[in-house]
Amino acid sequence: MTILVTGATGNVGRHVVRGLAEAGARVRAMTRDPGGAAFPDGVEVVRGDLDAPDGIPLDGVEALYLFVHSPSARDVVDLAVKAGARRIVVLSSGAVTHGYDTTYHLPVERAVEASGVEWTHVRPGEFATNKIDLWGPSIRADGRIVHPNPDEFGQLVHERDIAEVAVAALLEGGHAGKAYTLTGPAKLTQREMAAAIGEAIGRELTFVEVTAEEALAYYVSQGWPEESARFMVGLGGYEGGEADDFSDYEFTVSPDFEAVTGRPYRTFARWARDHAADFAG
Ligand SMILES: NC(=O)c1ccc[n+]([C@@H]2O[C@H](COP(=O)([O-])OP(=O)(O)OC[C@H]3O[C@@H](n4cnc5c(N)ncnc54)[C@H](OP(=O)(O)O)[C@@H]3O)[C@@H](O)[C@H]2O)c1
Repeated sequence: MTILVTGATGNVGRHVVRGLAEAGARVRAMTRDPGGAAFPDGVEVVRGDLDAPDGIPLDGVEALYLFVHSPSARDVVDLAVKAGARRIVVLSSGAVTHGYDTTYHLPVERAVEASGVEWTHVRPGEFATNKIDLWGPSIRADGRIVHPNPDEFGQLVHERDIAEVAVAALLEGGHAGKAYTLTGPAKLTQREMAAAIGEAIGRELTFVEVTAEEALAYYVSQGWPEESARFMVGLGGYEGGEADDFSDYEFTVSPDFEAVTGRPYRTFARWARDHAADFAG
């Protein structure tokens, strides 16, 4: 059985490819730039663009890991099913679980459910890798972190944990019709996260406390799309417009990861050690 991995060079996708290859599966990794990608030996690397779904090499594909590129995701699903795919694992979002994603991942989940395949939705919370983009440049430059509220809690999930659940759902029976919410381990304050990164790189990090507007301007200057940055700093909603109301939000640790893998989530300290090179100056 050939498994097509879209978004194969992504934070999660690259670990999905590796996990499938290590399990001995026949993997086809899709990227727009095969020359610039490095994958394990034995992986078939193909050129494909989610903006040109008709050109995606779907011949012989029985299972699909779907990175959601919103404009074309439903076409990709239709084409994959027509080509013979029987199982689709969607990299979705915990925002669907919590009800504030109604226009991005949710319609794709619905399309996959309606397509008649065996489906599994993987719904992660906030990726720990966001910290590389948000905090990496200033940590590398001078050990500082620009943030509007260092005592704010967050709950971050390691991309390898997300990938492991996707790999299980692609390879094993028993996951059809399931939506797994992956919260990551217990909540931490931003200061606790900074301490873990500092420990990993052997450097004490300090916060530059700014207003939310100043943080927004800073993150946009670092290349974040404005809408994503507005959401991140609490100035905008997940789907744009006004900020969502998270005042009743309760941080819990969802049991789904342990139920699938048989072990607890990787900690943020572990994630920081895995990514020390991304923060070292
Ligand atoms: N960040 C978070 O906190 C968070 C939380 C929950 C859910 N999510 C969801 O998780 C997903 C992001 O996953 P990720 O971080 O693993 O992805 P990623 O690192 O952003 O990588 C996605 C990959 O997809 C490929 N890609 C992007 N646009 C493409 C296009 N038009 N055609 C073909 N390929 C394209 C790129 O590969 P090539 O350049 O090699 O083609 C890229 O490496 C998103 O759907 C996001 O909404 C994110």
